[in-house]
Amino acid sequence: MYFIANWKMFGGLNSLNSLHKVNKFLKFLKKKSAKIIYCPPSTLIRPMSKKLKKSKIEVGAQNCHEHESYGAFTGSINSIMLKNVGAKYVIIGHSENRQAGETDKLINLKVKSALKSGLKVIFCIGETLKQKRKKRTKQVLNKQIKLGLNKINNHKKILIAYEPVWSIGTGLIPKRNELLQTITSIKSIKRNFKVLYGGSVNPKNINELKSINNIDGFLIGGASQDPNKFIDIIKKTYN
Ligand code: 13P
Repeated sequence: MYFIANWKMFGGLNSLNSLHKVNKFLKFLKKKSAKIIYCPPSTLIRPMSKKLKKSKIEVGAQNCHEHESYGAFTGSINSIMLKNVGAKYVIIGHSENRQAGETDKLINLKVKSALKSGLKVIFCIGETLKQKRKKRTKQVLNKQIKLGLNKINNHKKILIAYEPVWSIGTGLIPKRNELLQTITSIKSIKRNFKVLYGGSVNPKNINELKSINNIDGFLIGGASQDPNKFIDIIKKTYN
């Protein structure tokens, strides 16, 4: 099971103190299958990966520029630079960035450049509330996968994170049956893919979510900033 923390635009150097608690907990968690990945803001990738050198927690980034080498792109960071400071993963296609204008084509270029640099990709997809109401979820997800992963065969290096836009930060999660069906449908398009769920995952709803047996892990936003909540989510998943 994957437990991926997406800190979004939160955290300074003092936030790294919270890792100690999670690390300590993991030492006693006798679950080899638990993969813990922290995706902090880019400013914290280096200090975090140094701090976690001896830990089983891995570090990832939240986005990257699509250009494969250095270039005149003020304010941007590419996948080589992320790898260089200790990232092993990168989130690409998060709905917060899609809403800010990232297209499927741009996302596809980013995925390609990340894989080329040796990063694993956490590829996010998800429908809006409007699309869900129009019963277009399946169609929307299929398109995001088809275009975003166009001409990419490196399936073992990609995790798909299904994050319905309407569930992010709202406390809402899909109905059990809907989620089961959606994950099955994603897995039928791309076999062998691991599929994670993200959107308001917290210690209160994790028991319900974990009972959906085709989910391979969780991408956790808000709750991942609090080490107690993050630990609670992992604990309950295995109880
Ligand atoms: P929340 O867990 O805060 O809803 O965020 C989910 C998310 O966007 C993770 O990428």
